[in-house]
Amino acid sequence: NQLTKIVQPLLCWYAENARALPWRDDPTPYRVWVSEIMLQQTRVKAVKPYFERFLSELPTISSLADAPEEQLLKLWEGLGYYSRVRNLQKAARVVMKNYGGVLPKKPEELLRLPGIGEYTAGAVASIAYGEPVPAVDGNVLRVIARVTGDRSNISETAVKREFADRLRKIYPKKQAGTFTQSLMELGATVCLPNAEPKCGECPLSSLCTAHSLGAQRELPIKAAK
Ligand code: ADE
Ligand code: SF4
Repeated sequence: NQLTKIVQPLLCWYAENARALPWRDDPTPYRVWVSEIMLQQTRVKAVKPYFERFLSELPTISSLADAPEEQLLKLWEGLGYYSRVRNLQKAARVVMKNYGGVLPKKPEELLRLPGIGEYTAGAVASIAYGEPVPAVDGNVLRVIARVTGDRSNISETAVKREFADRLRKIYPKKQAGTFTQSLMELGATVCLPNAEPKCGECPLSSLCTAHSLGAQRELPIKAAK
């Protein structure tokens, strides 16, 4: 598995280069969950102030479960996609009722909560609980397609699943959350989309198939279905 070799350099790079982000200081399950929901359709820079305000007004899953709708909508105003915050509250109520107020740690259980899909389940399980499971978003698909020189269509569900399976096999047991974040961080700050990858600053350049072929700008392949 070509990916085995990326683990150490990526963790090492992340330790030196990670951005300080509010949800990284204290990655409790609730904070990781809220941040990942906000980050689904909104950029990091825009999310920061919303995240801080949301967490200071609704610091616990219990307070979120009990929040009046008008407060929720106000806290989300400007972020858009309001179904995200409605689902967040629905899920918080399920967590209060069925899990004693503690977010479950297994991806299979997280997946049953409203608003939590494969990506978010993997992010919460790994970042908040250290479970060795991947969280595959667009950034991660791009990094993996380039490193492995894979020309599959990343818009296909089967391809996403295949990438997730390959990653699952190389997850470091003791630094699962850090590894999830390091993959996202590389995609967000170095292995940038389109014609912009900064291969000269990349800890994976000597391992990267796309880079060695000069094909990094052609990948990933994203054909409409
Ligand atoms: N985008 C999605 N999740 C993220 C995270 N945990 N940190 C930075 N960017 C992200
Ligand atoms: Fe991305 Fe370039 Fe690094 Fe390969 S070498 S992972 S294309 S930034």
